[in-house]
Amino acid sequence: MKIITVLGARPQFIKAAVVSKCIAAETGIYEIIVHTGQHYDTKMSDVFFRELKMPTPKYNLGIGSASHGKQTARMLEGIEEIILDERPDVLMVYGDTNSTLAGALAASKLHVPVIHVEAGLRSYNKLMPEEQNRILTDHISDTLFCPTQTAINNLFKEGISKRAYNTGDVMYDSVLAYKAIAEKYYPFGQVIRHIEIYPRMEKNCAQKPCELESGKYYLTTIHRAENTDDIIKLQIILESLDCLDIPVVFLVHPRTIKMITESLSENDYDNIIFAEPVSYLEMLTLLSNARKVLTDSGGLQKEAYFSEIPCITLRDQTEWIETLDGNWNILSPIDKHSILGKVLDIIPETSILNKNYFGNGNAASRIVDIIRASY
Ligand code: UD1
Repeated sequence: MKIITVLGARPQFIKAAVVSKCIAAETGIYEIIVHTGQHYDTKMSDVFFRELKMPTPKYNLGIGSASHGKQTARMLEGIEEIILDERPDVLMVYGDTNSTLAGALAASKLHVPVIHVEAGLRSYNKLMPEEQNRILTDHISDTLFCPTQTAINNLFKEGISKRAYNTGDVMYDSVLAYKAIAEKYYPFGQVIRHIEIYPRMEKNCAQKPCELESGKYYLTTIHRAENTDDIIKLQIILESLDCLDIPVVFLVHPRTIKMITESLSENDYDNIIFAEPVSYLEMLTLLSNARKVLTDSGGLQKEAYFSEIPCITLRDQTEWIETLDGNWNILSPIDKHSILGKVLDIIPETSILNKNYFGNGNAASRIVDIIRASY
């Protein structure tokens, strides 16, 4: 069986790493990886392939950044050509990015069955590009691998749960598989010495990363269009982080640093360390040593939950509602008073943390077993 896997953005590399490993261990399944090039910086792409020992993509479309329509259209054209050349039995996509939708649509139009990993997630906010990508991808997929029972229920409401399986979450597999490796090879002292401050933000950083202490910093990522493309919101977020009681390590996504350096870099943010993106294993170390996480990333909300680190999600809704149980994850609107109150005051109920919501850590092998039995 020949599978084409379409990847493009950082979280997809992390999800695919565990599944590709299981595929490689199977005889009779041959995987071809197509990288759309949606993420292209070394720190957003290459480092993940290297560190997670993923197979090198056979194709890299080098699409890069563009408006949503252009980016998706260029991917669609490139993936279609590859499908026509390679004639795969199935095509697999992950998550909710433009690369996900382009892969699914190209295959569906050529009548190649589509497998969607991380299906059934919904924020019920159609303004989000990710929500559009998820809904469309789910409806044209033939096999839907859901990370949670909530995701299955969401698909049931849309009448497409017959082709869905609750396999558990591949990101849980990934944290379980790589946590011990991170602890052994990326100790905290080493990781903080490797943190690089964005050159243009050095003057804004009064804190030195190498002086950070375990349990005495907050970890932050912000990259959603709803937060970064509204400069007022971004400013409120930065002002809130700057007022916190201990330093904030802000791992800044390229789209976010662009907005900050274009509009806000003249401000003083003494409490924030504006750092370049780090690798997955470095991230696991920074996460497990953080006091709390503040983020708008779906992946980091779960990674915080799996690592038992409280999280404040800077959004009005989350697709990962299980993490809200027992206050392990708390939503906050973009309002300084609310953000500070939630970060400083809320303590999770330790007895309520239930990782079984996300399966048993064997989602990847279940996915590969079902693929082998179905196609
Ligand atoms: C994409 C996904 C989002 C996912 C995120 C993970 C869509 C619609 N969004 O958002 O769901 O959570 O990836 O990170 O697919 N850029 C670089 N270098 C890179 C990549 C991006 O400089 O390697 C900059 C470019 O200026 C680009 C901007 O970041 O315009 C946005 O990149 P894009 O890939 O369009 O979306 P993300 O914000 O990364």
